[in-house]
Amino acid sequence: MAPAKLQAPKGTFDILPPDGRRRDALRAVADDLLGRAGYDAFESPIIEDTDLFARGVGTSTDIVQKEMFTFEDKGGRSLTLRPEGTAGACRAYVEHGMHKRPQPVKLRYWGPFFRHEAPQAGRFRQFAQIGAEALGSDDPSLDAELILLLGDLLQRSGVQSRLRLSSLGNAGTRAAYGEQLRAHLRDRESELSEEVRGRIDANPLRAFDSDHEGTRAVMADAPRLIDGLDREDAEHFAEVRAMLDDAAVSYDLDPTLVRGLDYYTRTVFEFESRSLGAQSGVGGGGRYDGLVERLGGPATPGVGWAAGVERIVLAGDTASEHESPVYVAIATEQHRRAAFALARELRGMGVAAQVEQAGRSMKGQMKHAGRLDASAVVIVGDEIEVKDMSTGEQVSVADAGEAVAVVAGGAMSG
Ligand code: HAM
Repeated sequence: MAPAKLQAPKGTFDILPPDGRRRDALRAVADDLLGRAGYDAFESPIIEDTDLFARGVGTSTDIVQKEMFTFEDKGGRSLTLRPEGTAGACRAYVEHGMHKRPQPVKLRYWGPFFRHEAPQAGRFRQFAQIGAEALGSDDPSLDAELILLLGDLLQRSGVQSRLRLSSLGNAGTRAAYGEQLRAHLRDRESELSEEVRGRIDANPLRAFDSDHEGTRAVMADAPRLIDGLDREDAEHFAEVRAMLDDAAVSYDLDPTLVRGLDYYTRTVFEFESRSLGAQSGVGGGGRYDGLVERLGGPATPGVGWAAGVERIVLAGDTASEHESPVYVAIATEQHRRAAFALARELRGMGVAAQVEQAGRSMKGQMKHAGRLDASAVVIVGDEIEVKDMSTGEQVSVADAGEAVAVVAGGAMSG
């Protein structure tokens, strides 16, 4: 019997050449943008204690209730493949006493995340996020800076998007609002979807996310949290908005914006792209002033965002960057090692170089150089010759150094 065909697990994917180049290019743009604003590279483990997400993301969220890849390790500990990066960043902040560093601590990350969702276009079980977090200051300029950085990243990636913005206030305001909203939902309980009805107590805010018709009608008449912000939160939000206005960024003020994670306070935002269809969220985030404390650290404000790499690539036009190589061809079998050494020398001089490694004839090598879009072919035989692939011109050179000079353009065009 033939063995069963092996396939990548449901909801995961392989990145085949040359598709990875667009991701590389996106990463370079993100590192550049965030790096220049002081966000330093940060990495944390892909596995974390399950408890981190229960406490961090919230037990009433879809992520914790339904979407985590959780398993027991050989020591009987419950571990989870991280579904998001903010909880891990805050855990690391507490664990390493980063509150003793100059604040804010600004972090940027890129890596795989896991959610057990029903796969569809733009929604995977393993996906990559680019993220940024600023911990240790509640300065509204951080909220504005982060929103502008994500906007710039999307713009530089060719993603057309709409920015939705709101404020959720502080925990007290939210609790009071939660009561108001629960009362409203109970008044009109019979019109709600079953799922929303089941969550009135645990998480009434999520009713804003429902696409159930009856629920939507009830939510259209619901009280708005944004009308009940206390003075400090309202001022904070006004300052964030003023800075966005100064930067001439347009946004929709949307009091129905609720993000699918429980840790948010004050500013929340989401960038949406219509070209993504149902999975319209390309990136989003907000402030989470109570999270570090909830994870056992000192009271510490924080704000950040994450964006989906696959969704940016899908919705955008990130160019795939690729340097045309020099191709080192082998004239006869006995020149194999010299050609190999010369390719290495070229790379040492900063030139992208590939050497023949599949036993092709000279004709086959020339054809392959064409396929690789090589700028020039260096033919290593008893002599070394350089052939310019655009003009077809061919000259003899003494060594790798001279070959590089020729490839760089000088000798050949002269
Ligand atoms: P999130 O909105 O859950 O936020 O995810 C951020 C982004 O990750 C989404 O906008 C989307 O582009 C991408 N994403 C999420 N789930 C999937 C999936 N199943 N397949 C493909 N892409 C996906 C967070 O994760 C928060 N940690 C963001 C944050 C950082 N808030 C504050 N700091």
